[in-house]
Amino acid sequence: MVGRVAGKKIFITGAAQGLGAAMAAACAAEGAKVALADINAGGASDRADALNAKHGAGTAFAYALDVTNEEQWIAALEAANAALGGISGLVNNAGISSREGGIEELSLEGFRKLMSVNVDSVFLGAKHGIKYLAKNQPGSIVNISSIAGLIANHTSPGYNASKAAVWLLSKNIALHCAKKGLDVRSNSIHPTFIDTPILDPIRNMFGKDEAEAKLGRQVPLGRIGKPEEIAAAALYLLSDESRFVTGAELKVDGGISAM
Ligand SMILES: NC(=O)c1ccc[n+]([C@@H]2O[C@H](COP(=O)([O-])OP(=O)(O)OC[C@H]3O[C@@H](n4cnc5c(N)ncnc54)[C@H](O)[C@@H]3O)[C@@H](O)[C@H]2O)c1
Repeated sequence: MVGRVAGKKIFITGAAQGLGAAMAAACAAEGAKVALADINAGGASDRADALNAKHGAGTAFAYALDVTNEEQWIAALEAANAALGGISGLVNNAGISSREGGIEELSLEGFRKLMSVNVDSVFLGAKHGIKYLAKNQPGSIVNISSIAGLIANHTSPGYNASKAAVWLLSKNIALHCAKKGLDVRSNSIHPTFIDTPILDPIRNMFGKDEAEAKLGRQVPLGRIGKPEEIAAAALYLLSDESRFVTGAELKVDGGISAM
């Protein structure tokens, strides 16, 4: 088996589209078996079929999973563990953003929804996933936060708070695993604007070209990012190339946080 993650068995949430789908494709191309989990079960299944057609049957498996639901997490991890022959990598990627407005406009229900999908997901994934990673060391957990978890703006109180929680929770998980003597690492990735459907509300507001140009002007490198550019960062953290990296945050933001 060749490839940067050859022999790894990687469970990825939110893999029906966007960054999750790009990460699943990159991992499969580099020799891993992948479990694609999503609330959009049909979308995850289509992606898995495409990966199996490209890389051979048994490369990819799909699971219906609402990442806010503990019972579904337990069932999906158990099923993926059986199908993949273990789990050595977990990517907590599923997440949402919403048009929130300022903190005085955002409803408590809206705030709780963001916290639930973006943070409960990481808590539940790690809580129930570590035991599988412990049996398949070295293990790696990659949590997709955001540059908005490190830098605030005035219109995203729930998104800012949820992604900041993911940032520090990742470090907590890293220290917990280290303290237990496990070779299981935990790191977070912090993307800026990346070309996925999550940007559609902005595209719908301004039109595709203008929206992307507007967002790109905020980035020192002058453009929004590509899903493959986040997948490359995840691949590094999932591979043994990063064996001594844990509790770290990897900003993939075209330089925004340098300003
Ligand atoms: N694209 C960006 O600009 C960007 C920037 C920074 C961070 N992120 C983060 O990256 C992650 C992926 O975002 P994306 O851009 O690919 O978004 P996306 O909207 O294209 O994809 C998100 C995926 O998550 C799934 N999902 C949503 N709620 C779910 C739930 N409750 N249970 C299971 N799956 C669920 C969706 O069905 C979808 O397949 C998110 O956590 C997002 O916050 C994205």
